[in-house]
Amino acid sequence: MRKLSVFTILLAGLFFVGCQESSTKSSSSSESSCHTCFTLDETQQVVVEKPKREGVYHFATEDTQVYSSDGSKVIGSVIKGYGFAEVKEQGDKVILKAVGYIKDGDSLNIYADEDFILPAITLKEGSVVKDMEVAIPKAKLTKTESEIWSKSEFIYYDNCSMCHAAHSPKEHTIQEWEGVYGTMKAFAMPTEEDDKLIWEYLRSHSKGSFALDE
Ligand code: HEC
Repeated sequence: MRKLSVFTILLAGLFFVGCQESSTKSSSSSESSCHTCFTLDETQQVVVEKPKREGVYHFATEDTQVYSSDGSKVIGSVIKGYGFAEVKEQGDKVILKAVGYIKDGDSLNIYADEDFILPAITLKEGSVVKDMEVAIPKAKLTKTESEIWSKSEFIYYDNCSMCHAAHSPKEHTIQEWEGVYGTMKAFAMPTEEDDKLIWEYLRSHSKGSFALDE
C-alpha cells in the first residue's frame, strides 16, 4: 500500500515537471502537450491585472534570470523582449515592476497574453503577486525595444515572403500562430537558429501579445 502511493506521487510529479518544461519552452510545434495542464482549471481563469505601460520601461535582451527585489538570489526567469516598469536602479541591477496577466490557481507564472498561452515570467518556487518587484542585471536590459527585434524581424520577412506577401504577426494570436507557423515552417524550412528567431518574433508580436514596436 505504502509502496503504491509513493509510486503514484512520483508519477504525478513527473507529469507535472514534464508539463512545466514544455509550457515554458519556446516550442514552435502545434502539438504542445501542455494544454492539458491548464484546461483543468479553465473555468477559474481570471485576469487579475491588465498590463499597461507607465514610466520608464526596460526590456530583457534575451531569455534571462530574474532576481529577488533585493538582488540577492535568482528566483526565476523571463523571456526575451519582455518589458518591465523601472522602480529604481541599484548597483549593477535595475529593480523593476513586473506587469502581466496572472491566472488564478497558477502561482508560478506571469503571462504575456490574456489567453494565458505564453508564460513571460516563471518563478522557480513561491508565488507571483500583483505589482511584483524583481531585479535584473543592467547588462541584460535595454530601453530600446526595437533593438531586440531588428534581427528577428529581418529573418522573419526574409523567410516568410518568398511565396506570398509577408503576413503581419498581428494577424493572429499566439495560439493561432502555433498552428499556422507549424504548417508554414515546413514550406519555409528555416535553419534551426532562424526558426528560433522567427518563433520568438511571432509570439511576441502576435495579436494580444506584449511587443509594441513596429
Ligand atoms: C514555399 C512557399 C511558402 C513559404 C516559404 C511560406 N508560405 Fe505561407 N502560405 C503558402 C501558401 C501556398 C499559402 C496558402 C495556402 C494555405 O492557406 O494553406 C500560405 C498561407 C499563409 C498564411 C495564411 C493562412 C492563414 O491561416 O492565415 C499565413 C499567415 C502564412 N502563409 C504565413 C507564413 C509564414 C509566417 C511563413 C514563414 C515561416 C510562410 N508563410 C512561408 C506558401 C508559403
